[in-house]
Amino acid sequence: MKKWWKEAVVYQIYTKSFYDTNGDGIGDLRGIIEKLDYIQALGTTVIWLNPIYSSPDVDNGYDIADYQSIDERYGTLEDFKELLAEAHKRGIRLIMDMVLNHTSDEHMWFQESRKSKDNPYRDFYIWRPAKDGKEPNNWGNYFYEGKGSAWEYDESTGEYYLHNYSKKMPDLNWDNPRLKEAMCQMMRWWLDLGVDGFRMDAVNRLVKPKGLPDSPNPPTPPVGIYGYVVDRTMCANCPGIHQLLHELNQEVFGRYDIMVVGETGNVDAAIAIDYVKEERQEIDMVFHFEIAKNPVLKTAAQIKEIQRRWYHVVEQHGWITQYLSNHDTPRQVSWFGDDETYRYESATMLALMTHTHPGTVYIYQGEEIGMTNVDFPSIDYYNEKYTVGKYHTMVESGVDPETALNSLKKTSRDNDRTPVQWNSREHGGFTTGTPWINANPNYKEINVEKEEQAERSVLRFYRTLTAMRREHPVMVYGSYEQILEDHPELIIYKREYQGEAWLVICNFYGREQIMPKEALKELEKGDARLLLGNYQGGETTERIRPYEARIYRCR
Ligand code: NOJ
Ligand code: CA
Repeated sequence: MKKWWKEAVVYQIYTKSFYDTNGDGIGDLRGIIEKLDYIQALGTTVIWLNPIYSSPDVDNGYDIADYQSIDERYGTLEDFKELLAEAHKRGIRLIMDMVLNHTSDEHMWFQESRKSKDNPYRDFYIWRPAKDGKEPNNWGNYFYEGKGSAWEYDESTGEYYLHNYSKKMPDLNWDNPRLKEAMCQMMRWWLDLGVDGFRMDAVNRLVKPKGLPDSPNPPTPPVGIYGYVVDRTMCANCPGIHQLLHELNQEVFGRYDIMVVGETGNVDAAIAIDYVKEERQEIDMVFHFEIAKNPVLKTAAQIKEIQRRWYHVVEQHGWITQYLSNHDTPRQVSWFGDDETYRYESATMLALMTHTHPGTVYIYQGEEIGMTNVDFPSIDYYNEKYTVGKYHTMVESGVDPETALNSLKKTSRDNDRTPVQWNSREHGGFTTGTPWINANPNYKEINVEKEEQAERSVLRFYRTLTAMRREHPVMVYGSYEQILEDHPELIIYKREYQGEAWLVICNFYGREQIMPKEALKELEKGDARLLLGNYQGGETTERIRPYEARIYRCR
């Protein structure tokens, strides 16, 4: 079925790092308003805002203290309304990040909850007495924080509360109908204000396993954390989660013309279908972690295998997402491409591949100018919880600091959180003050202003792709069939829709390839015409150059 959100290209904005207008070093809503024309010119049709609610900011806003107010560092509710109106004026919709798994410990609910065992908010969170004088189970927190446990002892009532993330982010208790009702009301409040949907944080973790059993899995390498087990599967996809999401759909999502995309770790295509199959009325699509945010770099063959499995979800009347980076991943050109010799070629190849696969496309801020990973000289420059937590755990358990830092650098979430590079002025023009996190020192070479003028411009390539999506429904609704599934370096596939047929060829590596005869045969079948390529001329049907990508229209 046709839907606006299937056709969308979403632009993800990490407000804190986007654009600062008042010189406090922190990106803000007015900064987004100023850049709306840029976002419109990019051809993106939806903005996803990472959390901008009031927050003590231990996890850059994923620790929410008040769901119905804007953090003052980002602006005011008036600024937000203006942003929404200005975006809508330009035909751009806006979705909010909805964090329902936990709140900040500074949220009023938690402040009340911890006061006494009979406080009306007690059961908004998950409290347990000690077990044999210790934590209620062996779960470790995902941030490797403190001594590692996912439980924090609270003196006032002598019990532990569960926090899968930071101890300043207590997990909510979704078995409590009062919590559910409060959350539904809150979400309807945003929707009534005019927002166009939600990105649902950790949405498959809301329901916890009955009885909160110990994890049977041993600690993950390279180092364990004091006997606790960081096992992210324990709270993923537990019985009851589908019923809950269906309820949220009936109470909230289904009542508006919105899009809902869930963030779901520990989900593969076979599991995902139950979340996104149209007739089940839960959510519209999920972000899986099989390609992006994977600690192991995937090969072309693996990526093809993953894409084939996920296309099945589309065939079964579900919907999927296409993205290679977000605020939790490395920069895609550094992770999958070559950010030195072939930065332009690999950035554009990855873009072309993403935009021509079935699914809603997501662009993470800065990706459209080919921003790269950062290489900070010491842990002091790093900010995000996971990198810092894991670093200290490693060093404390005897790993040499340099080795520890090097092992974390490539995948650190801070790679994606350095400020957007607007021009060659100090801090990449992000702020006139001191940025909350340093800019990538390469801002003089890589920035929006340069990209506007460059002959080989990643930015212009993105604009071409988004324009093509508006013109060619085959990019959205076309069937998808790979050829040469086992080719180790080339990713080649056909898309077809209402008489239009495309052949897409992506060289996933920096080596030249011979055009396989199977691809040639496809090209010779019709009257193939090159629609778009990422080299300026010189295409031959014999060779495919490093990171070259082409779209042919065969019919
Ligand atoms: C997923 C978010 O993308 C990440 O940034 C955050 O740390 C966790 N969820 C906890 O909310
Ligand atoms: Ca600011």
